Amino acid sequence: MSDPTVAITAYWDAAAPTFDDEPDHGLRRADTRAAWARVLSSWVSAGPSGVLDVLDVLDVGCGTGSLSLLLAEAGHRVTGVDLAPRMVERAEAKLAAAGRSGRFLVGDAAVPPTGSERYDVLLSRHLLWTLPDPDAALRAWVARLRPGGRLVLVEGRWREAGQSGAPYVAGAASLPWYGGVTAADLAAAVRPLVADLRIEPLSGDPELWGGPVSDERYALIARI
Ligand SMILES: C[S@@+](CC[C@H](N)C(=O)[O-])C[C@H]1O[C@@H](n2cnc3c(N)ncnc32)[C@H](O)[C@@H]1O
Repeated sequence: MSDPTVAITAYWDAAAPTFDDEPDHGLRRADTRAAWARVLSSWVSAGPSGVLDVLDVLDVGCGTGSLSLLLAEAGHRVTGVDLAPRMVERAEAKLAAAGRSGRFLVGDAAVPPTGSERYDVLLSRHLLWTLPDPDAALRAWVARLRPGGRLVLVEGRWREAGQSGAPYVAGAASLPWYGGVTAADLAAAVRPLVADLRIEPLSGDPELWGGPVSDERYALIARI
């Protein structure tokens, strides 16, 4: 299989200037933004004491940093990693404009360039479908978590590979989860790596997406 990483980087660099135009990307609408802040706070939450824990969160495939910003606003320490330098620039600018701190690195989410650092939460939204080896990435992510840490994977199954529509990149059809991954398939991949997991369906919450959706969308939350 040819390595599509170069083409994937170029695709997302080109997409960066307009990426936030989608309601669930830019979170410009107050209701969409509030909906994501609500679900994130339930997944990346305070401990049993109810006192806010400041958690170390690694947001892989962070894009323009919209979720990173919500996490920073909630008081967490956020590191974002993205393959596309133009995405990382936008994430840095977004947090700076909001007066929030966060660290953003250009790199491959499958091998985050964060050395021996360990995190309380690894967040990934809408990334697994474009990874050449998602199973290896999941193993690498679990290894970056502290004991008791959480994986928060926001994913979906949007379309069949090869379905008509704008082409993504050459060779994309060979990506294992091109078109998305069902909750059942992702749970099967994650379950051997973690202590427990749960799936939260998200298709029924139009505020998250800027309108109703008919495809499968969900979050998988796992504890190691
Ligand atoms: C659909 S966007 C999602 C962005 C962000 N997580 C969000 O939900 O708004 C996919 C992102 O993954 C990034 N990406 C794709 N492959 C990657 C890889 N191997 N490592 C890191 N980032 C990657 C792209 O540059 C893009 O920013």
